Amino acid sequence: MSDTTKSFYLTTPIYYVNDVPHIGHAYTTVAGDLLTRWHRQRGESVWFLTGTDEHGQKVMRTAEDNNTAPQPWCDRLVEQAWKPVWKHLEIANDDFIRTTEPRHTKRVQAFLQGLMEQGYIYEGKYEGPYCVGCEEFKLPGDLIEGNCNIHSKPVEMLSETNWFFKLSEFAAPLLEHYEKSPDSCQPESARKEVISFLEGGVSDLSVSRSTFDWGIRVPWDDKQVVYVWFDALLNYATAVGLTDDPSSDGGKFFRETWPADVHLVGKDILRFHAVIWPAMLMAAKLPLPKKVFAHGWLLVGGEKMSKSKLTGIAPSDITNHFGVDAFRYYFLRAIPFGSDGSFSWEDMAARYTSELANDFGNLASRLAAMVEKYCDGMVPEPAKDEELARALSKTVESADKSIVALDFQGGINAIMDFCKAVNGYVTLQRPWVIAKDASKKGELDAILYNTAESLRALAVLLHPVMPISTAKLWSYLGAESSLGSIASQKIAEVAKWGQLKSGSKIVKGEILFPRLPDLES
Ligand code: MSP
Repeated sequence: MSDTTKSFYLTTPIYYVNDVPHIGHAYTTVAGDLLTRWHRQRGESVWFLTGTDEHGQKVMRTAEDNNTAPQPWCDRLVEQAWKPVWKHLEIANDDFIRTTEPRHTKRVQAFLQGLMEQGYIYEGKYEGPYCVGCEEFKLPGDLIEGNCNIHSKPVEMLSETNWFFKLSEFAAPLLEHYEKSPDSCQPESARKEVISFLEGGVSDLSVSRSTFDWGIRVPWDDKQVVYVWFDALLNYATAVGLTDDPSSDGGKFFRETWPADVHLVGKDILRFHAVIWPAMLMAAKLPLPKKVFAHGWLLVGGEKMSKSKLTGIAPSDITNHFGVDAFRYYFLRAIPFGSDGSFSWEDMAARYTSELANDFGNLASRLAAMVEKYCDGMVPEPAKDEELARALSKTVESADKSIVALDFQGGINAIMDFCKAVNGYVTLQRPWVIAKDASKKGELDAILYNTAESLRALAVLLHPVMPISTAKLWSYLGAESSLGSIASQKIAEVAKWGQLKSGSKIVKGEILFPRLPDLES
């Protein structure tokens, strides 16, 4: 239909509310926040969804263990733990979906009813192993000595009459899809894994459970609830109006957002997203997501960091020490997105000091101190250093290319390399020496203008990564009144030299990245 402009639509997984968020969850959400903030600064219309996965045995049992009914348990965790953590980390999501909300449950039922009517659902018997930690029906090859290969805990044996989805019918079209479009599943190792899994053939999938009731009722069989993954995967589409009448607001919104541009997932949940989910969409004759990107794990002691293995670290353990911006910066800067990475306090402290405090924060402090001392705190007359301006153009081009391709490390590196180049420029030009010769005031002003302009560009480019410190820098540079808010600055215009207005007031402000207290304290 012609009434729609498609948004850049990005999702994170919806998180189980069996516990509070740890830094593994925050890793995915911060990556999504960086990417959506970047796309917004590219001037695109963006929709960023996150939320919580609240049904199923895992959440139900945790609530029971805490002597609470599942709904109040979820309500408490969502309101007191999940939403506050995202706020603390400056996550700018547009929507937050909870799978217990009526807007979700009624659309899941309508979708399932549609698949039933199309002949994709039948009744059958499931017999086999199930891991409640994964909420997954396991294959014999997934077990190590009877334990789940992910949770290292015994699986449970199920024998139930359930409703099945004809997943096997979609193995061949899915194979063709992944072979034809390399962008649809990334990184390449993930696509290969999915292809070889599909080549092995897939069985039909039980999409309901009958032995407990914490879930969405199967519309035609009130003794069964919808399998939690079938329910959860649908959040990406129910949140934007799936199954709504095309002429309604929901239907219009669906056309403006669907298909998702990127589903960000951890590699442990790749198969659900790259096999089951697109098969469900194919059955409903809906377009497939453009990309599923599987990132690696944060490791502690060489293993996936997790609460169940008592290695979970809360984001506040880190932000209390390093601040929110450094937290957002560190993981995406230090670990190639798609690979596993170990967290270490020492590495984080080293990068904080050398890259954030010295290279970036110090550059801003030096500039403000010199402008105060030599120019009465005012931005001097515009000047242009051709080499710096060229380096900036290249930086913007390369950072944009990397970040849009989800190479966050490459993008941040390109920006921080420019920061190093600016430091090199200041060191080489030695404005503090030139300042001693009154006849060189023009030269001094030019050096300070070029440095201030470079910091203007750095603030804009680093804003999606570190929204707090860059907004402070923006106000110290006096940019707000002449250029507007930092979030409204466009990536395509960052390299346009000469934007800071002479005469604007530059203030010293507080240090952007203060010296770290001792790690032991
Ligand atoms: N509820 C499901 C997802 C449903 S999406 C339709 C789920 N939830 S989860 O809370 O267990 O995990 C959510 C995400 O956090 C997954 O992408 C998972 O990979 C990620 N992480 C959990 N621990 C992690 C690390 N240690 N490191 C990186 N990411 C990790 O699965």
